[in-house]
Amino acid sequence: MAQDSVSIGPLRLDEEHTLGEFHRLQQQAQSVDFPNGPSSCRRAFLGQMIHPRPGNSVLAWGAWVGGRPVGLCAIGVPKADQRRTADVLHFAVHPDVRRRGVGGRLLATATRHLAGLGLQKMTVFTSGPADGAGPGDAFADATGAACILRYQRMSLLIGPTRPTVDSDISVGYELLHWRGGVPSNHRVAFAEMSSRLAAEEAARSSASQTPEDFDEDKVQELYAALDAWGYRTYLTAVRHRDTGLLVGYSALGMADAHQQHASQWDTIVLPSHRGRGLGAVLKRANLSWTIDHEPELTTVATWNAAGNAAMLHVNESFGFRVDQSGALREWIL
Ligand SMILES: CC(C)(COP(=O)(O)OP(=O)(O)OC[C@H]1O[C@@H](n2cnc3c(N)ncnc32)[C@H](O)[C@@H]1OP(=O)(O)O)[C@@H](O)C(=O)NCCC(=O)NCCS
Repeated sequence: MAQDSVSIGPLRLDEEHTLGEFHRLQQQAQSVDFPNGPSSCRRAFLGQMIHPRPGNSVLAWGAWVGGRPVGLCAIGVPKADQRRTADVLHFAVHPDVRRRGVGGRLLATATRHLAGLGLQKMTVFTSGPADGAGPGDAFADATGAACILRYQRMSLLIGPTRPTVDSDISVGYELLHWRGGVPSNHRVAFAEMSSRLAAEEAARSSASQTPEDFDEDKVQELYAALDAWGYRTYLTAVRHRDTGLLVGYSALGMADAHQQHASQWDTIVLPSHRGRGLGAVLKRANLSWTIDHEPELTTVATWNAAGNAAMLHVNESFGFRVDQSGALREWIL
């Protein structure tokens, strides 16, 4: 196929049928890149494009050959002036047309547009096999995206034995369980912990990132967005009995189309309460809480930032094993 038969253009986000075609493209790419992984969820894909994260809007470009979608680049663009970085939501080229410049042309189109809007950086999360770089990393290297933080993906197979929990929580603490979001009376404390986690993650990266800041409204909007994307979310928080303060939480989500696969998201314990096993208790308790409602669950996947030895240790002790590599990469526009 000649390169000039590829056309690139903006995607309309109000055309569900067209977006659905690009979702199929993403599924086809994933079935080649990660043949053993769960198939991408259509509702989550459409939801992320149509109902952006709080404070973001979405811009997307497609690539077509003879009317057939062959490439997609979708970007989350911050609305407010505080953050100057845009984040790639989806970037995929159909396996049949790779190494023909489609990815490069999509990238050039997106970055030219974003630079015109005054954005300074664009980040992408690449993932590949555990033992080496995948096409995303090779493409990022070739197009000058610096690696700012490496990750390992770890997966846990759920056996027939359910995790036990409340018996092993440290004296002086109690657990709270929520589904579908954070109750309004806990959102301020939850937002402070989420901001703290974002700041710790930014401090691990090699770039001067402005960490994301949360407040109670943003926590509410974020979980409302996850709900609109079809995610079933499970949260467990730990409260210090003497002070009544929340001092940690763990969050997990399952996409609408997934009954067997869950994603372990944030886990944080505030520094003054670390070293008491609360991180492991939170994860185990949240998993148990999830299994109560998700009897078909078989695997949980999580991304562990390189350098976060404490979380790596917690995950390994739990039975998580590394099965993919990943990296946060950044283009300067
Ligand atoms: C990454 C991806 C979008 C690249 O799309 P593409 O159309 O094949 O990219 P291009 O043809 O424009 O490649 C540009 C350059 O990147 C490098 N590159 C891309 N894929 C590569 C690979 N598999 N191995 C080594 N280098 C690669 C090459 O230097 C290439 O130039 P060359 O072909 O002249 O040597 C595509 O492989 C894909 O969809 N991967 C899965 C999803 C993904 O990883 N997304 C994250 C993207 S950062």
